[in-house]
Amino acid sequence: SASTSPATQDLFTVSSPNVAYSDSEINTKYAYRTTSVTENGDGKFVATPKETLYDFKVDRKIPKTGMMLVGWGGNNGTTVTAGIIANRLGLSWDTREGPRAANYYGSVVMGSTMKLGINAKTAEDVNIPFHKVLPMVHPNDLAIGGWDISGMNLAAAMDRAAVLEPTLKAQIKKQMTEMVPLPSVYYPDFIAANQEDRADNCLSGSKASLEHVEQIRKDIRDFKAKNGLDKVIVQWTANTERFAELVPGVNDTADNLMKAIENGHEEVAPSTIFAVASILEGVPFINGSPQNTFVAGCIELAEKHNSFIGGDDFKSGQTKMKSALVDFLISAGIKLTSIASYNHLGNNDGKNLSSQKQFRSKEISKSNVVDDMVAANNVLYKKGEHPDHTVVIKYMPAVGDNKRALDEYYAEIFMGGHQTISLFNVCEDSLLASPLIIDLVLIAEMMTRIQWKASSTDGAATKEFGNFHSVLSILSYMLKAPLTPPGTPVVNALAKQRGALTNIFRACVGLEPENDMTLEHKLF
Ligand code: NAI
Repeated sequence: SASTSPATQDLFTVSSPNVAYSDSEINTKYAYRTTSVTENGDGKFVATPKETLYDFKVDRKIPKTGMMLVGWGGNNGTTVTAGIIANRLGLSWDTREGPRAANYYGSVVMGSTMKLGINAKTAEDVNIPFHKVLPMVHPNDLAIGGWDISGMNLAAAMDRAAVLEPTLKAQIKKQMTEMVPLPSVYYPDFIAANQEDRADNCLSGSKASLEHVEQIRKDIRDFKAKNGLDKVIVQWTANTERFAELVPGVNDTADNLMKAIENGHEEVAPSTIFAVASILEGVPFINGSPQNTFVAGCIELAEKHNSFIGGDDFKSGQTKMKSALVDFLISAGIKLTSIASYNHLGNNDGKNLSSQKQFRSKEISKSNVVDDMVAANNVLYKKGEHPDHTVVIKYMPAVGDNKRALDEYYAEIFMGGHQTISLFNVCEDSLLASPLIIDLVLIAEMMTRIQWKASSTDGAATKEFGNFHSVLSILSYMLKAPLTPPGTPVVNALAKQRGALTNIFRACVGLEPENDMTLEHKLF
């Protein structure tokens, strides 16, 4: 917790001449090894091992942190809030299947482990919770707040969501009742018309304005002061918006975007207002929905202010399976030829997505998720060749939050044969998304306390410590359409995303990347 001293909070220390611990920092010298390839012109390559030396500096003091959610009164917002309170209080509750207790299942940070190394005595693997690799915030310690265009208190909103058991809800009702979302920015044109009847908690004005940006900034500052916080992370888990049109002179540069907000241009989305306010406040902002919140001007603004952003669209169910399964098929040398994905869901997200423009945002977000894996396999696919891919989403009120996802993967195998894999995935959408919201907050916060400096002699040396790039692509594992620094590749393959996260964290404490060679068990 926040009061633990660094000396006692660590589960392990690294014993290496490259790693130094002080009361306030972990300082590491790290050799990053890659392979540089040149092409000979005759179709042949020369591969040269390359090494860059980095200094990493980790701030060991765990800050008192707050999470502010836009769309706090929605299914995700209420479910993640209830889940954290239940964990904080160590609650258990009765269900028809017997007692259940609060947990953090589905959170990579809280629910998974990492191999630290090999036991010197027994030669067995030593695994530790992911949460213990670096000095991370514990979700139980998060202060929670946020905005919603619906003014319902969180207890009533949790009932409306219809996700959690009544025996759990009864135990947290009092606390949840006291939580009421702040009024939000509502520009009706950006979300489905069918959302209008819940919009009773809105700031005045139905198009972009500097007043809206200033009000959100003030809300963040007030929340920080009221809860005595060191840090705040803001996350969009509100309705999916339509895409904003990309208009030269409006949202293409940071300056133009600020001018467009001042002039009340109709192509500035509420989510972009929240992003801009967070950036100007120096607070990380993460977009959990598919729309193009991060127009070029917004990314440039984040870079200018050295503020962190991450997105887009939580990767909870169907797409997570897809980015694991397609990775497996194509790296097994099997030629995937089509993917057909059908969804039906009955929650408010589904209702909003039943409107064409909002569905289109989701369709775009869901459709590019196999591109990198296909492009990487030039044995199976010719340049530009791509499997067919269709995404359908239907609103079916009766199934509520219990989303159904049906997928058919059709592939070509040896000698003209075929393989068909059908998946039927059923689960409460919000119970998958909530742990991702927690992971995104914890990892984004951690990234604000890691700095780097390059000390190699190949021209890449930097004198001063600096932050990671404003666009936190390390969050890709949790996101369907990962935002990456402009001009850098997008990685969708799930195992690679996990590897990046794991190995960057390891590097920060001077540990080699995880590798699965286990030579110690193979060379006798
Ligand atoms: P929801 O519809 O239950 O909640 C959204 C909330 O946002 C509502 O309470 C609504 O009143 C509020 N809202 C709308 N516009 C707002 C604004 N301008 N400012 C403040 N609040 C506003 O939806 P749910 O299920 O919680 O999902 C939230 C978002 O997360 C959706 O965009 C969804 O597509 C996305 N998402 C959800 C996943 C999941 O597994 N649940 C997975 C991937 C993305």
